Amino acid sequence: TRWRASVLTIFPEMFPGPLGLSLAGKALEAGLWALDAVDIRQFAGGRHASVDDTPFGGGPGMVMRPDVIDAALEAVLAPGERAIYLTPRGRVLDQALVRELAGRPKVTLLCGRYEAVDQRVLEAREVEEISIGDYVLSGGEPAAIVLIDAVVRLLPGVMGAPEGLDEESFEAGLLEYPHYTRPAEWQGRAVPEVLLSGHHENIRRWRRQQAEEITRARRPDLWARYLERQTDSKKKEA
Ligand code: ADE
Repeated sequence: TRWRASVLTIFPEMFPGPLGLSLAGKALEAGLWALDAVDIRQFAGGRHASVDDTPFGGGPGMVMRPDVIDAALEAVLAPGERAIYLTPRGRVLDQALVRELAGRPKVTLLCGRYEAVDQRVLEAREVEEISIGDYVLSGGEPAAIVLIDAVVRLLPGVMGAPEGLDEESFEAGLLEYPHYTRPAEWQGRAVPEVLLSGHHENIRRWRRQQAEEITRARRPDLWARYLERQTDSKKKEA
């Protein structure tokens, strides 16, 4: 019943990697989620049979063979389950998609190397495609680690108090307000007065203003969506 990530890769040694440390690692040890890394090479058939081959039509690079990928998927997917292929061509991961993935019982992540998988197996298996952003990695493994990390912190029991997931943060569609700790003055720079006031309502308002200001300045795209959402919720109230 705990959330599970199964990762299909030709580099199983990359896992758990950073996911074995810190917050995700502690949660993994505590049994709050489960991870298995499956070596795609196991399904290559024969000791020297390869996972990849040259592209039909020519061109650089290699393409992962559909028969090998299909056998790997057949071994790990229950009937009716779909896999996720990490690729820059996929739907771009955002916090809403992370929340959706956290709500599923498991994800099966296919990591490509050589930057290509034969198109036919993606179609035959109705593979879902997800990108972690508009840049190109040398393989899907770091993207799988990013996706899993983002999901794991949302799982029940992983973060102490789920306050971080509240109004004041990214969940509201805003960037984070600035944070301060001791000393109250450092290199001639003082912590904003209001944070020392103990006036919780003023602090809340100041943080919201700061979050709005930084979002407007840095991310017009998020700001536009935030304003739309505000208008929508006012309409619903009326
Ligand atoms: N594989 C290579 N680049 C990637 C990206 N940006 N997102 C997901 N998988 C990838």
